[in-house]
Amino acid sequence: MSFTGVSSQLKGLLGVMVQEKSGSKIRKSVLIVDDLIGNVKLLAKHLDEYKLYFALDGLTALNVAEQSLPDVILLDIMMPGLDGYEICRRLKLNARTRSIPVIFVTAKSHEDDEELGLQVGAIDFISKPISGSILRARLANHLELKDYRDNLEELLAQKDSELSATYEQLLHAEKLSAIGKLTASISHEFSSPLLGMEQILKSFRLDEEDEDKKQLFDVCVGECQRLRDLIREMQNFGRPTTSSFEPVDLNEIIKGVIKLCGKNFSRNNIVAELQLAEIPPINGIPDQMKQVLFNLLTNAKDALGVSGGCIRVNTIVRGGQVVVTVTDTGCGIAKDSLEDVFAPFFSTKAEGEGTGLGLSICYGIVSKHKGKISVESGYGKGSTFTLRFPIPEDSLS
Ligand SMILES: Nc1ncnc2c1ncn2[C@@H]1O[C@H](COP(=O)(O)OP(=O)(O)O)[C@@H](O)[C@H]1O
Ligand SMILES: [Mg+2]
Repeated sequence: MSFTGVSSQLKGLLGVMVQEKSGSKIRKSVLIVDDLIGNVKLLAKHLDEYKLYFALDGLTALNVAEQSLPDVILLDIMMPGLDGYEICRRLKLNARTRSIPVIFVTAKSHEDDEELGLQVGAIDFISKPISGSILRARLANHLELKDYRDNLEELLAQKDSELSATYEQLLHAEKLSAIGKLTASISHEFSSPLLGMEQILKSFRLDEEDEDKKQLFDVCVGECQRLRDLIREMQNFGRPTTSSFEPVDLNEIIKGVIKLCGKNFSRNNIVAELQLAEIPPINGIPDQMKQVLFNLLTNAKDALGVSGGCIRVNTIVRGGQVVVTVTDTGCGIAKDSLEDVFAPFFSTKAEGEGTGLGLSICYGIVSKHKGKISVESGYGKGSTFTLRFPIPEDSLS
């Protein structure tokens, strides 16, 4: 290792400089803190394979540590100004530098000194005079330990976020199931009296001449019809499925549902474009898959409104999953509402136009199929709903 000019640079930079080997990959870094340049040089001589930072006084050391976040700090104890203990104490008080291991390098050998060093947060002591091999071995051990700790922390953070995502899903599923039970019982209570009232209403004789009354009559019958539709949707929502899982070709399902929507689409100036790749069958319940696609297409149609537009349905295999996207060029979804669209009873449609149950039904069905449903949307630009289903093991070969 060449030290040419280091002393003058050290002085010029208030005791800080970085010694870096050119052309090397990411290396572990060590901050050496000692008020004597001779000692810094001596330590640096043994640490050729590390990226090195130097500091000749306490305040600079704290600064460099915070800026550069070295992997380990070699700290002298006896220094003018802040001594090693105080530097260590301050490093441990700072959230950014708290986890950097500190090793005291000192001529002090009294037990009390070691005790105080450990109290302020150091992890080890190395005594002067320095033995190069011991220094390197100790450093390597502490860096390995730090790696384990960092990896563990990363793993814990990852598991933590996975756990909260699962919790959110569970919460949503629980909400759906509770609302499903509630709506099933309410809709059962409502359907018989409604049917009775509708029949009584229809049995009334109307004066053919009275146009106003006729109109009111039609409104009442129309409202009964709408309530019946709503009740049917609520019953579907709460109804446990009896169908069983079987291999389902989603391309066929899509073609069938598009056919079903055909008239409605052409009446509303909507063009449906299909881009269906070759996909393996998924493990699913055909009726429920139809229901999901039907809900997504109906929503896309509603989003396009009276002026019409284009609805594109794609299928593809990506990342070991069957991916279906339904894209429309409609009104899009406001950013604030994106999180709510899968919640039961969330609807931005005019009264009588929407129940707010379609997407939560989709969510429930897709989750039961071990899949994921997500949405991307630009307000005023259109939306894409994406379904992802796992490919069954036996379809993989
Ligand atoms: N393709 C879409 N484009 C724009 N908004 C949509 C789309 N699909 C769903 N939404 C929004 O999500 C809401 C909930 O949809 P849904 O659960 O199907 O209930 P509903 O259609 O009865 O309102 C809709 O009211 C609408 O605001
Ligand atoms: Mg809907």
